[in-house]
Amino acid sequence: MLNARILAATLLMACTALLTSCGARLSIADRAARAFSSQAQAPGEPVVLPDFNPSLADGKAVYSKLRCAECHGDKGEGANFAAPRILSDPTKEQADRTPIFQYKILCYGVPGWDHPVLRGRLSNREVWDLVFYVRSFTSPPLTAAERDRLGTVYGANCADCHGEKGYGDGPLSHNLAPLPANFHQFDRFFDRQDSMLYNHIADGLYPAAMPGFFGRRDRMNGVVFDQRFIKQMARYVRHFETDYEPTDISRDLEGAGSGKQEDPHG
Ligand code: HEC
Ligand code: HEC
Repeated sequence: MLNARILAATLLMACTALLTSCGARLSIADRAARAFSSQAQAPGEPVVLPDFNPSLADGKAVYSKLRCAECHGDKGEGANFAAPRILSDPTKEQADRTPIFQYKILCYGVPGWDHPVLRGRLSNREVWDLVFYVRSFTSPPLTAAERDRLGTVYGANCADCHGEKGYGDGPLSHNLAPLPANFHQFDRFFDRQDSMLYNHIADGLYPAAMPGFFGRRDRMNGVVFDQRFIKQMARYVRHFETDYEPTDISRDLEGAGSGKQEDPHG
């Protein structure tokens, strides 16, 4: 009798947990809106998206030209007490900012701090270059080897829907509604924290066709989609947003501080 009651109680608890977790599942638009509004600055501060993929190398040049390192250190490690926030600490919120949030910080300043305000001082493109350079402190650009390896796994598991180059145009995409995400879509992906990308790859997006990958195995390529690997996949998704070949990135990053980069795109 006692056992039966315990069993019943346990079952009830399990059901409630199941129900609440389903009820708590937000649509992707809700999740994005919540995450964004919790970080957003004062209303009415416009965000102008870039018309081309930001460049880390150019961002590094701007970082050095504006002497951000005097407060934040060369690699975001923090130079002095004037900048309490360590931009290179992946365990701090900093790693969990959306690019749009960081753009607003740089354009309009940090509320409550006497921070450089760059709107009007830099071109819009330079601000975006800077945003992605700052992000590279916690999420360094993929090396050529990482990109090859992740690209193979991406090709085998994601490209049928998202397309080889991430434009959301893979062969399976045509029958899907909503369509697979286009990783080059700035207004969508600049509004995502890396942790949100992680969650969407790990858990999938229901009822959209995006499968959850957590715990899956790709035997052909010898990988398990565990936490560490899904983080790598999130970095791979982000790499579509910056347009440099990995070899160019490391080469350009070496010399970027020394002078203006050639602009290969215009
Ligand atoms: C005079 C010192 C100083 C200079 C120069 C400076 N910063 Fe800051 N920065 C700060 C302070 C102070 C904060 C806020 C600290 C905090 O929130 O804990 C901050 C915060 C930030 C943040 C994090 C905001 C957040 O909440 O996520 C970013 C990103 C940033 N700075 C980038 C830059 C860049 C890029 C430059 C160069 C244009 C720059 N900073 C120049 C002092 C400085
Ligand atoms: C069967 C097709 C399919 C496959 C396979 C697939 N996806 Fe998706 N994915 C989708 C669809 C559809 C969406 C759009 C969902 C929506 O808009 O709600 C999506 C959305 C996403 C998003 C965007 C979520 C956001 O935050 O906006 C990411 C990131 C993503 N997929 C990554 C991946 C990765 C990485 C793989 C491979 C490991 C993969 N997907 C495999 C169909 C697929």
